[in-house]
Amino acid sequence: MVKEMDLNKIKNIGIIGAGVMGPGIAEVLAIFGSSFDFNINLFDISSEAIQNAQKRMEVDFAKVESVGIFSSEDLQIARERIHFISDLKDLKDSHLIIEVIPEKIDLKQNFFKKIEDIVPSTAILATNSSGLSITEITKVTRYPERCIGTHFMNPPLLMPLVEVVMGAKTSDETVSLMTDLLTNVNKRPVLVKKDIPGYVHNRLQAAIFRELMYLVDNEVMDVDDLETTVRYGLGLRLPVMKVFEMVDMMGLDTINNVLSYLYPALDRSTKPPEFLKDMIHKGTLGVKSGIGFHDYSSKDMTESMKEKEAATFQLLMMMQQYD
Ligand SMILES: NC(=O)c1ccc[n+]([C@@H]2O[C@H](COP(=O)([O-])OP(=O)(O)OC[C@H]3O[C@@H](n4cnc5c(N)ncnc54)[C@H](O)[C@@H]3O)[C@@H](O)[C@H]2O)c1
Repeated sequence: MVKEMDLNKIKNIGIIGAGVMGPGIAEVLAIFGSSFDFNINLFDISSEAIQNAQKRMEVDFAKVESVGIFSSEDLQIARERIHFISDLKDLKDSHLIIEVIPEKIDLKQNFFKKIEDIVPSTAILATNSSGLSITEITKVTRYPERCIGTHFMNPPLLMPLVEVVMGAKTSDETVSLMTDLLTNVNKRPVLVKKDIPGYVHNRLQAAIFRELMYLVDNEVMDVDDLETTVRYGLGLRLPVMKVFEMVDMMGLDTINNVLSYLYPALDRSTKPPEFLKDMIHKGTLGVKSGIGFHDYSSKDMTESMKEKEAATFQLLMMMQQYD
C-alpha cells in the first residue's frame, strides 16, 4: 500500500475538476515541481470548464513569466507537463489524485468510490475540500489510509499555505509523502491532525467574520472603520509578527486578565446574522452583484484583483524575512 511509495516515485498526477482551483493546483505542480518532471492530467466532466481552464492557464503562465523568476523556456516545459483528458480511465497509472470538484459530500464520495477502481492500490487520493470531513468523504473507499485532505488556498499559485488534513484512518506515510511533496513545490504545508469542520484556516476566518458581523449588527462601528481597525491594527502586525509571539510580548498574565473579562462578551452566535439574509434577499451579494458591504459598481474588479495579487506577492517576499 502507501508504504511502498516514496516521493520520487510520484510521476503521474491526476487533477479532477478544472474550475476555480484545479488548474491553479496543476500549475503549482508543473512549475515548482520541475525537478520531478510530473506528468499532470487535468480532468473535468464539462468541456466548457476545460476550455476556460486552457484560456486561464495562458494568462497565468504569462503572469508568472512577467515576475522574472522562471525563464520562458522553463515555463514552456512546465506548460507541456499539463494534459487535458476527457476519460477518467486515462488516470489508470496515476500515483496521486487530487480531487477538486464542488464542495458537496455526495459528489466527492461518488468520485472517491469510482476512482478507486481505476487507479493502482498504492496511489494517494487527496481532496481539496475547504472543510468537509475527510473521514466522511473517504469512508466509501477500501483503503482510507491513503486518503488525505490537501486544502490549497485561492489562488494556488500565489498562496503558500496548504492544510494537510488527516482523516480518522489516514496513515502517517500518506501524511509524510504529501507534506514532502508540498514542501518541494514551494508550499507551506501545515498538518491538521484532527478532522474538524472547516479545518483550521477557515475556522479562524469564520471567528473573525462572526465578531465583525456582530459589531455591524449591533452598530458598534461602521464598516469603513472596521476595515481600518483590522487593516491598520491587527492586520499590520501579522506580516512581521507571529500571533503567539504577540501573546508572549503582551505577557501571559496580562492576556489572561484581558481574556477573562473579554471572552464572555464576545459573540457566540451559532448561526449567521439575520441582516445577512436580508442583504441576500435584496440581491446585495457582493462583487458578483456590484454591491455588498462595499460598492463595486464602478470598479474594474479584474484589474483590481490583478493589482492586489501583485501587491500580495511583494508582501509575501517581505514577510518571509520574518519567519
Ligand atoms: N474557490 C475557492 O476559492 C476555493 C478555495 C479553497 C478550496 N476550494 C475547494 O476546492 C473544491 C473546488 O472548488 P472550485 O471553486 O474550484 O469549484 P468550481 O465549481 O469552480 O469547479 C469545480 C469543477 O469540477 C467539475 N466537476 C463537477 N463534478 C465533477 C466530477 N464528478 N468529475 C469531474 N469534474 C467535476 C465542474 O465541472 C467544475 O469545473 C471545492 O471542494 C472547494 O471547496 C475552493
